[in-house]
Formats: sequence, structure tokens, C-alpha cells
Amino acid sequence: MKRRSLVKSPGLLTLLLAALASYGQGRSLPQAASPLSPRLIGAQAPVSAAFPRSTASVSSADPLVEVAAGSLGHTSPFASTLPDLTFMNEQKDPLEASAVTAEAKPLINFEVNVPPRWLPSDEQESSTTVLIERSFANSYYKPSLLRYSPSLIPKGFRDPTKWTSLVLEQRGVAVGRQFDRLGTIFLGNSKTGYSTEVWRTDNAQPVRDPPGVLWEAHKDVSRYYDLFRQEGEMIFDYPNVVNDIYTAPLNITLSLTVHQLKDAAAALPAPPKVGVPINAIGALDAQSKATPLAARSPLVYSISQRNKTSASHWAVPGDKAVARFAIPVNAMQAVAEIYASGTADDEFWYGSLNTDITKQLPTDAQAGFPHGAYREVRLYVDGILAGAVAPYPVIFTGGISPLMWRPQTGFGSYDQPTYLLDLTAFLGILCDGREHEYEIKVASAEEDEENNKSWFVSGNLQVVVGKEGDITSGSTPVVEVASTKDSFVLSGSVKGNITGPDGSILSEVKSIPGGRKIKISSHLTPAGTLQGLEVVTEHTTSFSSKQTLTQGLDRNDVTQHASGSQKSTHGGAPFLENSYSYPLTFGITSDEGFLNTTLKHEYHLEQALHPLAASRGNSTSHANTGSVDGSATVGSGSGSGSGFPYPSTQRISTRQSAAGSAAKVNGSLVGISGSAQQTYSYVDSEGYDFKRTVEVVDRVVKRDEIDGSLKSQALPVQ
Ligand SMILES: *[C@@H]1O[C@H](CO)[C@@H](O)[C@H](O)[C@H]1NC(C)=O
Ligand SMILES: *[C@@H]1O[C@H](CO)[C@@H](O)[C@H](O)[C@H]1NC(C)=O
Ligand SMILES: *[C@@H]1O[C@H](CO)[C@@H](O)[C@H](O)[C@H]1NC(C)=O
Ligand SMILES: *[C@@H]1O[C@H](CO)[C@@H](O)[C@H](O)[C@H]1NC(C)=O
Ligand SMILES: *[C@@H]1O[C@H](CO)[C@@H](O)[C@H](O)[C@H]1NC(C)=O
Ligand SMILES: *[C@@H]1O[C@H](CO)[C@@H](O)[C@H](O)[C@H]1NC(C)=O
Ligand SMILES: *[C@@H]1O[C@H](CO)[C@@H](O)[C@H](O)[C@H]1NC(C)=O
Repeated sequence: MKRRSLVKSPGLLTLLLAALASYGQGRSLPQAASPLSPRLIGAQAPVSAAFPRSTASVSSADPLVEVAAGSLGHTSPFASTLPDLTFMNEQKDPLEASAVTAEAKPLINFEVNVPPRWLPSDEQESSTTVLIERSFANSYYKPSLLRYSPSLIPKGFRDPTKWTSLVLEQRGVAVGRQFDRLGTIFLGNSKTGYSTEVWRTDNAQPVRDPPGVLWEAHKDVSRYYDLFRQEGEMIFDYPNVVNDIYTAPLNITLSLTVHQLKDAAAALPAPPKVGVPINAIGALDAQSKATPLAARSPLVYSISQRNKTSASHWAVPGDKAVARFAIPVNAMQAVAEIYASGTADDEFWYGSLNTDITKQLPTDAQAGFPHGAYREVRLYVDGILAGAVAPYPVIFTGGISPLMWRPQTGFGSYDQPTYLLDLTAFLGILCDGREHEYEIKVASAEEDEENNKSWFVSGNLQVVVGKEGDITSGSTPVVEVASTKDSFVLSGSVKGNITGPDGSILSEVKSIPGGRKIKISSHLTPAGTLQGLEVVTEHTTSFSSKQTLTQGLDRNDVTQHASGSQKSTHGGAPFLENSYSYPLTFGITSDEGFLNTTLKHEYHLEQALHPLAASRGNSTSHANTGSVDGSATVGSGSGSGSGFPYPSTQRISTRQSAAGSAAKVNGSLVGISGSAQQTYSYVDSEGYDFKRTVEVVDRVVKRDEIDGSLKSQALPVQ
């Protein structure tokens, strides 16, 4: 992590920035020549006898975490090599020492999130298959590769036409000292495009003593039915490094659970939902969730580097994130799904100062955190803007202070949220049988739109097709959008002697009143329909962020709120509608004795997808035309491409707050206390709901209340 210090001696801003930076993940660019990023908080050195155990908040189960207070300016994630690690030793290296307790129970780390949306019943049965078991040790550029096939699944469960739900499960165990790492799973073949990302995840940071940490996470991958129903190459990547200092391999088992109806006769296609009023959809959804995925799944195409044997997300800026492929000429609806995470120098983008402000700081501090606190993830089709979202700030298990995330992780760390964009307006230009370009970019609110690298991005295009032989036609979309410069107001100030008690730094970003708007419209004549219709997608993003550094830089406070919406209509009928809101506040406070952090963040998403909007007319309720080239699918006679297996409406709302306190001991930091609270609620139109309230104090789960129809599916924690 290369950060120039603000003041020559280990400065205070230095400390704050370093604290923020050095808790981060051990992830670096896939292209980086060296495998190790120095942003580590791991477990190894024993606790010093002088550790302030008398502090009231210390309990025998305390996480004792030391962070790299002095890790500033020594190394960059791109150049770091093993010898660079010596800086940590020189600086009384960062250490994490788990409390030495008599109990030999593993610490079970967990993310509060909706369990797989499935319930045991007389009509359904399920089967779980272990796909990959691996101890990820020195695994940079060495992902696990699996030739996936439905035939790997036990007899009786390997017929994809019967599947009603697909869930991947990750179980991990680790002991020792290690970063948290960015894990990814890709699947695909030559038809879908190799390497469609199906899960972006994170491991629990291990604890030193056996039996270590355990973590378990699920991801509903039903929407990737098209990939799982065929043979393909699966890539499971967890870039890790194990040596004398970073001692923990990540032992992980990846499994796939398929759910299906017991009685194949019941497996009829879902009845069409055309014309059903929105408040009646709940009941119909309840029926369609038991409908085989074959009758309600899109074709899936990879927007990635499409490598057959390697993790294929890009790192932008740097990589040009462009995928080229053709889709069927009878495509009727298309939705893109984007994966995007800030990593390396941009992992904490939400704590960046406006570039203008960094320029007013003393020269040696300018590179600190440039490019401001706003990021926007965009998708372009043939160079035309096709949608944009403000990403949710996932805080990984090592993020800001790992003391806050044990054993409850930051929301989204094990299953990172993704973003849907309606691309139906582009089908007029995409349905010509040729390859087109899909490009992902990440922009800031600065005039040059630059960001500090490195965003890991990839995605997929989900396509619903009409009858074989029909062709969709339409106009080139018209895009109305204000420039970034005209969409945001950047302001701030640097006052007084910033390292003195009265100096201050202020950095603010605000979107213009009403938010930043993008409107995309085209005229489309979907395959098999005679009359054209208007397809319109409108995106709005609103953002405000205020960051202050005060008290001789001993205090860093960030308050921000990213929110937005998307509303698309096909011939006036709603198709994809969502609204999201991600408030985030955090504070880092430091004095001679302590470095404390507090954080509050929220994730709210309401999303409706009406797959039988006017663009599909009546022609596709029984369409099931198979794969792109019309050839039979592998392992079954059934195709895909007939709908979207999302509930027609879905609402997620969660609030999490956390605090951590670390003591400064001999120039290093040692963890004192950590706590977190979270409330979570999920409800959808398929009749599933889930509620959970969790409270953790110093690693001990003090409260865990679970409710809702999916209650029985929640993972136990203690
Ligand atoms: C701090 O370092 C000094 C010199 O290395 C050592 O004597 C002292 O015991 C250390 N104190 C603690 C609390 O570790
Ligand atoms: C992880 O796997 C390695 C290699 O199989 C093994 O030596 C080690 O004991 C495992 N660690 C844990 C915590 O299970
Ligand atoms: C992945 O594919 C891209 C082009 O799509 C290529 O430039 C890159 O070298 C490939 N990476 C690996 C590790 O094969
Ligand atoms: C990112 O920040 C680092 C140091 O903070 C700086 O050296 C680098 O130039 C920045 N990169 C970009 C792309 O702005
Ligand atoms: C700024 O304040 C710090 C801390 O009080 C002091 O050491 C330094 O000399 C001051 N610098 C200036 C230019 O006054
Ligand atoms: C940090 O938290 C500790 C309790 O763990 C408290 O005693 C101390 O005053 C706090 N310091 C600051 C600067 O917030
Ligand atoms: C669907 O078919 C019905 C009856 O044939 C017709 O009235 C209706 O307009 C059609 N809907 C669309 C969207 O084409």
C-alpha cells in the first residue's frame, strides 16, 4: 500500500489513513507481478504481556487485533514481494492474536443475509454434490478448475429439466494469520462465453489458535440455470499466499444443491402472467417458484475476459473491460447483471478526498486519497451508455477495523450484491446476428472521472428469446444524460495548520438536486410481434458525502448516502423497477492510547421485474427454443431462454452498526474490543420472508432472533 505520509514523523493523518488502508484485503490486481498485498491484519504474534487487559471491555473472548499502524509508504500492492514484509517487523508488525482461551470451539463467522429461498416440503427433494475441495495456500494464478457437468450430480437429480432451484454453498476453515481474500467462481462454455462470474465472495479472517474460524455461505444461483444445465468449465479462485508470516491456508469446500419436484408430472411450465395486476402477482409467483427453472430462465452470456481456465474479471481502470459476443436474433428482453468491487487503492473509495482538496495538502500528502468519495459503475453497449449505478460499499472482513466483523461480517462480504440493468432498449441493434461490444467502466464525480484503481468488474447478459425464426428489430437507442461535471458539486476546504488542534480538512460531494439522470429510449419490434413499442429506461442516482479530518487529524468522520433508482417500461408496461439506498457513516478517532472506529451502514433494495411485460407480448409464454444456435442442450432435451427466475418483487432492508477499539502498544495496535448489531429483513412476492436481529459483543453473540418463513433455513451461529 503506497501512501505518502502527511508529516515526516509518523503523522496522525498518516496513522488514520494507514489504519484505513492497512486493514484491507489481501487482494491485488490479477495482473500484478507479485502475489502479495501488504494490507494485512492477520493472526500470529502472541499478545504482549503488557496488553491492557485491565480495560473494562476486555473479556476472555476478546479479539486481540493489531493493525499496521506504521505500514505507510513502504510498499505498493503492485510491487510488494516477500522481502517488503520486513517493514512490518521493523514497525513491530501488525499482529492478531486470538485470546488464549481454554475453549477449543471454532469461531463461526457469519453474514446475516437471506437464506436460500427454498423450504422442505413433500413435493420437493434435494441433493447436494461437492464440486471442489481445496486448501488454498499459494494459490495466486492457480484457481481450481472443474469440468462441470450435470452428470456429476447423483442419479435421480441430474436432469436439469426438473430443477426448481440451484444453490452454491461454501464452507471454509482456517487457522493462523491471513488476509481476507476476494474469492470468485466462474462457469461457462464456448456457447455461453467462458467464465461467467456466478459468485463474488470473501473468507473470514482466521484466528491464530486451532480450531480457528469456520465460515459458511450460500448463494442462490438459480438465475444461472442456463450455465448449470450444460457442461462447462468451472473456475474457483481464492488467491492466497502462505509463508512464515501469513500462515493460514484457506480450506474450502464448494458444493451445489439442486432442488426439484418429486413428481415430474407436476413440472408444467408456469402459466403466463400477462395482464395480471401487480397486487395479484404474489399468488402467481408462489405457483411459479415451484416451476422448473427450464421454463423460466434466460440464456446467459459472459461479460468478462472469457478465459477458459482463469478468473476473468477485469481490473479497471487499466484493463479495457470489453467483451464481444453475439446474441440470438430473436431476443425479446435482455437484462445485464454487473459485479463490481473497489479493491487495492480504491477499496475505501468512500473515504477518498476530492482531488482538489488533496492538492491543497502539503506536497507529501497529496496522493493520499484522491478522486473523491463517489463512484459510478457503468455499462456501455457499442460505446453507448446503457446504464449506471452507484455501487454499495461492501466492507470486507478485514475492512476499516476487523474488530468490528468478528464473528458477524459486514453485509454483502460473503455474497456481494450485484446490479441489474435493463438492456432491452438495445435489442434493435443487438439482434443482427453479429458480435457487439459490452464495456464496463467505473467513474468518479471528478471532471476527469478518474478513480484510484482497482475495480474488479465483470457481468453477464441474461436474454429471453422468442420463437425460432422470428427476428427482433428496432432503432438505435437515444441516450439523454448530463455530463458528470454538470451532475455533481464538489466542495471543501483546508483550514489552518491541519496537524494542529484547530486545523481541519473538509471534502464534500453532492449530486445536483433531483439527482443525476440518464434516460435511454428506443423503438423496438420484438420478434414475432407486428407492432413496435417504445422501450424506455430511466436511471437516477443521488449522492451526498461529507468528510472531515479534525483534531490534528486525529478524527476522521465520513457521512454519505448513495441512492438511486431504475425504471424501465416496454410499451408503457413496467418491466424492471428498482430503488436502492446505501447510507454509510464512519468515524476513526485516535489519541496517544487508542485508535477507535465506529461505523453504521445500511442496504435497502426494492426491485420488481415483470418478465411478461409488453415486449414479450403473447408470443413467448410457451417459447422454449433452446440454446443460441438451436442445437440440443447437453444432458437434457430442454433449453432455456424463456423468462427470469426472479421473484416479481423483492425487498431487502438491513442496518448494521459496529465499533472497534484498539490500543497503541509500542507503536503497534492491539485490539481491545469489537461489537456489531444488525437488523435484516427480506420479503418477496413468492411468499418468502426472513427477519433477523443479531448483536455481537467481543466475539460473543448476545442476541440472535430469527423469524419469517425461511427461519428454518438460517444457518446456526453459536
Ligand atoms: C516496548 O518496547 C520496549 C523496547 O523494545 C520493551 O522494553 C517493552 O517491554 C515494550 N513494551 C511493551 C508493552 O511491549
Ligand atoms: C487445511 O488443509 C491442509 C491440507 O490438507 C491441512 O494440512 C490442514 O490441517 C487443514 N487445516 C484445517 C484447519 O483444517
Ligand atoms: C484472458 O483473456 C484475455 C483476453 O480476453 C487475455 O488478454 C489474457 O491474457 C487472458 N488471461 C489469462 C490468464 O489467460
Ligand atoms: C492512487 O493513489 C496513490 C497513492 O495514494 C497514487 O500514488 C496513485 O497515483 C493513485 N492512482 C490513481 C490512478 O489515481
Ligand atoms: C502545526 O501544528 C503542529 C502540532 O501542533 C506543530 O508541530 C507544527 O509546528 C505546526 N506547523 C506550523 C507550520 O505551524
Ligand atoms: C477509545 O476507546 C477506549 C475504550 O476502548 C476509550 O477508553 C478511549 O477513550 C477511546 N479513545 C478515543 C480517542 O476515542
Ligand atoms: C395478447 O393476446 C390477446 C388475445 O389474443 C390480445 O388481446 C392482447 O392484446 C395480446 N397482448 C399483447 C401484449 O400482444
